[in-house]
Amino acid sequence: MKLNRKDILKALESISAPGEGQNMIESGAVTNVMTFGDEVVVDITINNPSLQAKKKTEVEILKTIHDKVYQKAKVKVNIKVDAPEKPQANQIKGKPIPGIKNIIAVASGKGGVGKSTVTANLAATMAKMGFKVGLLDADIYGPSIPLMYDVEGERPLAVNVDGKSKMKPIENYGVKILSIGFFTQPNQAVIWRGPMAAKALNQMIFDADWGELDFLLIDLPPGTGDIHLSIMQAMPITGAVVVSTPQNVALADARKGVAMFQQESISVPVLGIIENMAYFTPEELPDNKYYIFGKEGAKNLSEDLKVAFLGELPLVQSIREAGDAGRPAALQTATPLEESFEELTKNVIQEVVSRNKSLPPTEAIKITTMAGCSAAKK
Ligand SMILES: Nc1ncnc2c1ncn2[C@@H]1O[C@H](COP(=O)(O)OP(=O)(O)OP(=O)(O)O)[C@@H](O)[C@H]1O
Ligand SMILES: [Mg+2]
Repeated sequence: MKLNRKDILKALESISAPGEGQNMIESGAVTNVMTFGDEVVVDITINNPSLQAKKKTEVEILKTIHDKVYQKAKVKVNIKVDAPEKPQANQIKGKPIPGIKNIIAVASGKGGVGKSTVTANLAATMAKMGFKVGLLDADIYGPSIPLMYDVEGERPLAVNVDGKSKMKPIENYGVKILSIGFFTQPNQAVIWRGPMAAKALNQMIFDADWGELDFLLIDLPPGTGDIHLSIMQAMPITGAVVVSTPQNVALADARKGVAMFQQESISVPVLGIIENMAYFTPEELPDNKYYIFGKEGAKNLSEDLKVAFLGELPLVQSIREAGDAGRPAALQTATPLEESFEELTKNVIQEVVSRNKSLPPTEAIKITTMAGCSAAKK
């Protein structure tokens, strides 16, 4: 059963919301709806933080979708409690960031497929090619860029830029880095609640002294959740790169990742798919390739979804070791890996260039629930 987003929106119109006879769509409480086959994800913002109010809203949505659209729909409701709007936060939202030419989001759907490894190596290769590069680690669950760039435990300094105090990114291997990990203690489990994480990320984007950048790469957390939406609402993403292994479970999630960016209400161009861990190669037998996760799965997916295939990376011990040692593998010169990373990076840049030729600059998304009915708070 393939659910239709319009049917869900129509059903949600039957749920009333507080205030002048409005329904949930009119009131702007529904901030986004996404459908994947028989799955529905509904994002809601409510003012009442009580558990009871949340539960009631969730049950109502579930029941309505089951009754009016599809009895067996798998419904996920993400509820965000609206903190009072900070006016200046709203003003900066969605504005292009002066000096930053292209923002590339790296996503995956499934966790652990090598998003951070790929992002770290893309950034290092771009810097090596002479581009000005920034890397924003937005993984609120497990920031790994500080480790991969050997800058763990660093604390960004405040600098004065035109009379405003700004955070100075930490620099290594020619890449300017900010990570949510710089603001937590190592080994400490930090549970970032949605609004807190969004606020921290906003600061790292807008209150940071990035200077001039050709590319700002964003290492997103796994999944297709709230934090992804906050980031896409906060700034204009030039394009997204989706990383997957050839394995079916990873491919299914990569498909969802691509669908998230391509949703009508989001419309972030997908630059293409990267196949990581395409095959295993033992260092001593470089010509032997073992397709342990299946063959060309991500490549086939890109053909199926009609997005570019940006290239593949083997599963090799040295990539893992380099990540753990804090020096991306792409920086090892005159190795076959260096070539693979260069090839991959060139393809990404090529896609950015052709995207910029054929499409107008991306605007930060405004989540619209229905034609003419903007849920973005005025
Ligand atoms: N091509 C590769 N060859 C060898 N090891 C790899 C490769 N890609 C990633 N790894 C290793 O796999 C592990 C997971 O990779 P990574 O942290 O980049 O994944 P991720 O998708 O960012 O994960 P998360 O979803 O937790 O953010 C790391 O230990 C990394 O070194
Ligand atoms: Mg990661």
